[in-house]
Amino acid sequence: FSYPMPVNEPIHSYAPGSAERKALQQTLKELKSQQADIPMYIGGEEVRTGNTVAINPPHERNHVLGHFHMGDESHVQQAIDAALAAKEGWANMSWESRANIFLRAADLISAKYRYHMNGTTMLGQSKNAFQAEIDSACELIDFLRFNVHYLSEIYKQQPISAPGMHNRLEWRPLEGFVLAVTPFNFTAIGGNLPASAALCGNVVVWKPANTQVYSAQMFMKILKEAGLPDGVINLIYVDGPTLGKVSFAHRDFAGVHFTGSTGVFNQMWKTIGENIPNYRSYPRIVGETGGKDFVIAHRSAKAEVVATALLRGAFEYQGQKCSAASRAYIPSNLAADVKRLLVAGVNSFKMGSTEEFGNFINAVIDERSFDKIATYINNAKQDANASILVGGVCDKTEGYFIQPTVIEAKYPKYVTMCEEIFGPVLTIYIYDEHQFEATLELVDTTSPYALTGAVIAQDRYAVELATQKLRNAAGNFYINDKPTGAVVGQQPFGGARASGTNDKAGSALNLYRWLSARTIKETF
Ligand code: ALA
Repeated sequence: FSYPMPVNEPIHSYAPGSAERKALQQTLKELKSQQADIPMYIGGEEVRTGNTVAINPPHERNHVLGHFHMGDESHVQQAIDAALAAKEGWANMSWESRANIFLRAADLISAKYRYHMNGTTMLGQSKNAFQAEIDSACELIDFLRFNVHYLSEIYKQQPISAPGMHNRLEWRPLEGFVLAVTPFNFTAIGGNLPASAALCGNVVVWKPANTQVYSAQMFMKILKEAGLPDGVINLIYVDGPTLGKVSFAHRDFAGVHFTGSTGVFNQMWKTIGENIPNYRSYPRIVGETGGKDFVIAHRSAKAEVVATALLRGAFEYQGQKCSAASRAYIPSNLAADVKRLLVAGVNSFKMGSTEEFGNFINAVIDERSFDKIATYINNAKQDANASILVGGVCDKTEGYFIQPTVIEAKYPKYVTMCEEIFGPVLTIYIYDEHQFEATLELVDTTSPYALTGAVIAQDRYAVELATQKLRNAAGNFYINDKPTGAVVGQQPFGGARASGTNDKAGSALNLYRWLSARTIKETF
């Protein structure tokens, strides 16, 4: 079974007056008028605990979209039991059958549930229509299809044999269950982390962020409709410590597929390390964590190119992409033009609900996030080492709205140049245009992270120098582009250092982690 390289799912534009815009608006209306009662899915059963949590659109915090049912330790245990019960049948199923379930899910999203995936993402995570479309439709569909292609290539890899013998590799799944822990900021990551491990024959316990449940349960329903057998992926809503306590102590814990904060990932490693003697095998620990993603412009760059990369890279989805540009190094010769363009650009953005399609900026995810971002901005307002060039208004009356904010730092290690903020805050530092090489050193050493970064230059020597000197500063490095928007199959995604294990999502490198090969030699 060979599955050729797919083409990327085409992006719908939702142009004004188009049928697709009307259909998406209709879906939004329906979703808003319902009171969804969202169960966990354990062993194919819907599980309701009565311990419910309200789901509110971040841009309209008093509206209730529905409730989901929180679980406790017993539900983690039940999910693990259900996964292990499903394991043998799933691992022994022909891989074509497994693959076809995920290919069918991709087709269902593309043709039948696109507006529901986008609608739940737009309302639950406050993504505008375009940001939802490239995430919960296109990227999720791409992950599902490209993973099948990459796995078909992996399965073809076999050792040589010699006369009188036959050697082969059996590409087994891991022994035990895999935990998928997923973030709010990409519905596609939410879908990919459980689905990629399951495609390889693993059984999964999936815990999305509470702020992702609305779109996550939609994807779970699609997987069921596509024919996913009961217990292969179990979707539960519990807090992190409860999940960790039960699953990391379990003998059959085989690995974790994680996207989230560096702090949580570090804690996972520690807990897993302490439990090593209890496990059957060394667990696979795969994570994509924080970032402090950079853009460095060279004096040969065009100010318009720099400003566009920054406006899109820093502020799309309110700066809540792990890849978002959050620190920029601008040469003195371009400073005045870049600053002027940034201020004009931010002032041209419309901010508000995702249901108004003209709004480029929507709300940040929740109150905790809002308060954290607002604190950085308010501190900068009072600090002589920083000045706010534009933005700075934070208002959570209706929803968690933070105006896109550009801070100019007076020294290169000002706090907002160093720390991850995860919001619509860009800090720029103006460097002496003749100090490009020294500034590259600064880029490399200012943050512990290494997720994404970009150089903008017309001078080819500058491009070359930056590419070499920043070799370890970013897992995804962009030349004359914004550092966001990796496309499955085109830019495998992930970073090292404090940004994770760099097991590139959307590539074979990731899938290898969910396989444990057996070598079989037979002599004749
Ligand atoms: N694919 C996402 C991006 O690159 C994470 O922005």
